Amino acid sequence: MKIEKVGVVGCGLMGHGIVQVAAQGGCTVVALETEQAYLDTGLGRIEKSIAKLASKGVEKGKMSEEEAKAWAATVQGRITGTTNRADLADCDLVVEAIVEDLGAKKELFTALGEICKAETIFASNTSSFPVAEMAEASGRPERFVGLHFFNPVQLMRLVEVVRTDKTDEDVYAEARAFGEACGKTPVSCKDTPGFVVNRLLVPYMVQAINMFDRGDASAADIDAAMQLGCGHPMGPLTLTDYVGLDTTLSILEGWCERYPDEPAFGIPESLRTKVAEGKLGRKTGEGYYTWDGDKRS
Ligand code: 3HC
Repeated sequence: MKIEKVGVVGCGLMGHGIVQVAAQGGCTVVALETEQAYLDTGLGRIEKSIAKLASKGVEKGKMSEEEAKAWAATVQGRITGTTNRADLADCDLVVEAIVEDLGAKKELFTALGEICKAETIFASNTSSFPVAEMAEASGRPERFVGLHFFNPVQLMRLVEVVRTDKTDEDVYAEARAFGEACGKTPVSCKDTPGFVVNRLLVPYMVQAINMFDRGDASAADIDAAMQLGCGHPMGPLTLTDYVGLDTTLSILEGWCERYPDEPAFGIPESLRTKVAEGKLGRKTGEGYYTWDGDKRS
């Protein structure tokens, strides 16, 4: 089975990007949100990003103005939005990108298991929860994978493809092929906490926050050190703001509950405090830095 029609549940930070790269990869995509206002925001971001990529293509001499216009219209034309779960019934693949809450994800997959055709493959973009638990909830664990994209989805070139003990070989191969069609390089991961990237990245971010909290160095110096000393495109504190402090905290809370003896998953006090204060990073205008829209101010 070739994946042609894709449903994406959640059109937020990650979901809107997944909708877009799937459409760029040639799939027909249905974006599902709980409310029309969220859908409109997500679809608006997609429109802006497609326009940006089209104008970049012209700038770099990859396409003429005409070709860029046609490309943008074609990609845009493959995307529709809905607030009705039933509209995902005939999708070949449904990718979940909702809030990082295992209960909500399981409830969603149980419902989708009833709604979608028997062949539909299910995927979760979870960054930290066990894929196997959602797979069981869906009632079709053999047709379930993790497809973990990175923020910003349009630009980051990786997708982690996570298999559980029950994932069918064919389903796994189709999920990898879908990741490639989206323009990503797939890497294979077992169903372990954080897979590859977050298992390394989140403890690193925690260490940077601890360093800042102890006053060992300023936020700007910690970030400059990792950018200039290690060639990272962003320093760890900018990256925490970029990912979202709430997302980072919820990943850590989930891990602390499951793996209380793992010291690498300790939660920095300032992360809890800032989240409680609504300082969630770039999206709220303040985290470890203040932000003016998409840029640090
Ligand atoms: N769509 C289209 N274009 C976009 C875009 C988008 N969504 N986002 C940015 N761009 C464009 C910008 O407008 C800019 O265009 P310009 O050159 O014409 O001005 C261009 O891309 C470059 O962006 P920036 O100027 O903002 O700066 P950078 O050169 O630093 O690139 C970056 C941005 C690619 C985000 C780079 O800083 C980077 O790679 N940062 C690290 C990100 C990272 O580590 N992500 C993983 C997070 S972990 C994760 O997602 C896992 C989760 O589970 C927690």
